[in-house]
Amino acid sequence: MESITLNNGINCPVVGIGTFMLSPAEAENSVREALKMGYSLVDTANAYVNERAVGRGMKESGVKRENVFLSTKLWPSEYENPNALDETLERLGVDYVDLLYIHQPAGNWMAGYRQLEKACREGKAKSIGISNFEGKYIAELEAKWEIAPQFIQVEAHPYYTQSELRKTLDKYGIRLMSWYPLGHGDKRLQNEPVFAELGRKYGKTPAQVILRWHTQMGFAVIPGSRNVEHIRDNLNILDFTLTEDEMAEIAKLDRGERYYHRTDEQLAQFAAWHPQFEKA
Ligand SMILES: NC(=O)c1ccc[n+]([C@@H]2O[C@H](COP(=O)([O-])OP(=O)(O)OC[C@H]3O[C@@H](n4cnc5c(N)ncnc54)[C@H](OP(=O)(O)O)[C@@H]3O)[C@@H](O)[C@H]2O)c1
Repeated sequence: MESITLNNGINCPVVGIGTFMLSPAEAENSVREALKMGYSLVDTANAYVNERAVGRGMKESGVKRENVFLSTKLWPSEYENPNALDETLERLGVDYVDLLYIHQPAGNWMAGYRQLEKACREGKAKSIGISNFEGKYIAELEAKWEIAPQFIQVEAHPYYTQSELRKTLDKYGIRLMSWYPLGHGDKRLQNEPVFAELGRKYGKTPAQVILRWHTQMGFAVIPGSRNVEHIRDNLNILDFTLTEDEMAEIAKLDRGERYYHRTDEQLAQFAAWHPQFEKA
């Protein structure tokens, strides 16, 4: 598996399985099957309310804990909860995570970031990250962090390549992990003629070409799927390389067009929402 070396020297696999909007049963199944077929990066979050199921999927896969790069995210309701990380670890059934994000720049997010730094110092989180902190949020954090993050997780795909944000990331060696890498399943993105054409050339599906584009952009990518065939396809993307001309052709699709538009009102709702965690 190709990996990315982070600014703390740790390696992270370039391809993983995402679990947003997967029910506990679906998350357990997708994580177990993904790990059994060779995945080693798993992404979840407090807010997905499937962390216990992800932990079960990891155990059922038979893959050793140290061979899984496990990523989760604290939700804003947890930023001022001093036990948030321990409760998260308990749900996941592990004693550390490889990557711990704060999920949204909502509520007392600086308290959340201090929790990440503490977790990092205590070894309970091997790496830390920020999610959805584009623009003014990363600018404000940059002035205050004691430990720079290793990752930012943001929406990224060929229609929206985060070119502005990447200038800040490059200053600190912060790596980008793409969410909605396949446009959240949007057929319009996958049906762009350039992906069919490149798919024919390399014997790959449009989705596989898109995911390879992410890794060649230097992004880690965590496509979500309930479908074992898709999960298999999404791992099978590292045996071909898009040429510079092909990457340039795909770059023409960048219209600065996001799927998800977050408002200040939504951030306030995020701050007020308490996930109803799965019962033990
Ligand atoms: N930090 C954040 O705020 C945030 C927000 C959103 C997502 N995320 C993370 O990013 C991950 C990815 O985002 P996402 O799952 O929402 O969107 P996505 O990966 O862009 O798209 C998922 C959709 O694509 C389909 N799909 C997957 N593989 C495919 C393939 N090979 N061919 C055709 N269709 C395929 C899936 O359907 P099937 O089930 O049928 O395969 C599903 O409908 C999430 O799971 C989550 O871990 C983070």
